[in-house]
Amino acid sequence: MSFISQSLGRVKPSPTIAVSMKASELKAAGKDVIGLGAGEPDFDTPDNIKQAAIDAINRGETKYTAVDGIPELKQAICRKFARENGIDYKPSEIIVGTGGKQVLFNAFIATLDPGDEVVIPTPYWVSYPDMVLLGGGEPVFAETRIEDGFKLTPETLEAAITPKTKWFIFNSPSNPSGAAYSHDELKKLTDVLLAHPQVWILTDDMYEHLVYDEFTFATPAQVEPKLKERTLTTNGVSKAYAMTGWRIGYAGGPEEIISAMRKVQSQSTSNTSSVSQWAAVEALDGPQDFLAERASVFKDRRDLVVSMLNQANGLDCLTPEGAFYVYPSCAGCIGKTTEKGKKIENDEDFVTALLEEEGVAVVHGAAFGLSPFFRVSYATSTEALEEACTRIQRFCANLR
Ligand SMILES: Cc1ncc(COP(=O)(O)O)c(C=O)c1O
Repeated sequence: MSFISQSLGRVKPSPTIAVSMKASELKAAGKDVIGLGAGEPDFDTPDNIKQAAIDAINRGETKYTAVDGIPELKQAICRKFARENGIDYKPSEIIVGTGGKQVLFNAFIATLDPGDEVVIPTPYWVSYPDMVLLGGGEPVFAETRIEDGFKLTPETLEAAITPKTKWFIFNSPSNPSGAAYSHDELKKLTDVLLAHPQVWILTDDMYEHLVYDEFTFATPAQVEPKLKERTLTTNGVSKAYAMTGWRIGYAGGPEEIISAMRKVQSQSTSNTSSVSQWAAVEALDGPQDFLAERASVFKDRRDLVVSMLNQANGLDCLTPEGAFYVYPSCAGCIGKTTEKGKKIENDEDFVTALLEEEGVAVVHGAAFGLSPFFRVSYATSTEALEEACTRIQRFCANLR
């Protein structure tokens, strides 16, 4: 019998972190590797936000805070939800945690009982199924298709829901596909959800500000206010404000679930960093104009990557609405052999050979529950992206 718990035995370590680590190891060993595996903006945290943290330290804001966040940050989050999403939350309906990750984790630990099902569209962000398993629930996968732009159809959602469904996880723009749902596309899903009162909606809006081509972001409680009483709206500053290391995520939702999540957090981490919380107040209340400037840089990179990948033999890449990922199909490469004689049977073989033979690190689609695809993160410099896509083109051209 293993000393390690059975519930942890069902969980796998994050495959995206594993790819980043392998790329770093190869780099450290002197290999010329371009990492397109990480889900992290290459931009720096804006100076006004850094200054707010420095000021907080100098004022002595260095002690424990309320478990669920300082009142000033909770009020700033309420203002953000009202201003950007048209949703009214009270401070008692807000929780702040150590990144979006902890907020989601709290929600599952606080609500799942054995046998509870959680509907997760594929391709999914790698942590959803494993967090559900850690909470004792059962992930139920609802597949999307490249033909539908990786967006869930109302029919597929309806078919995935059972009397045991407790949550539906919605993530737009999506990690890993970049797909984002318009107001009307989302309304079709909320109409399905209205008919199933046992299902709660967990929306992960982490990439809200990373949308391109005049796309307008929408979130479930805004599109269908009748669902607000069973929606947990989660978000954070990690991606939009380039604050991945500060560890601030938050959620708005009915008091009952927020207080249950606070209980989980009170017996694990307590509050997230006091200094980071003051920085997040400035992020949400301070100037927002840099968001559009950065989005325009991401849009140019997306267009470059999509165009170069579509010129590679055997790849097919959609132009997604948001996030900083593309999710090309490598169906046309399966069954072929690389220049160095490696047979490509699936998307994992494709990414492994690409890393070994051309030094480009991407993540295989199987890690996100939909094959044969791979995820490219374009949150890196244009020069690195050009070089990486040139190598991918060469790799594909050499397949026999
Ligand atoms: C879809 C999605 N949700 C949540 C997170 C977690 O963000 P944080 O770094 O704030 O924990 C990530 C990070 O990769 C993500 O891609």
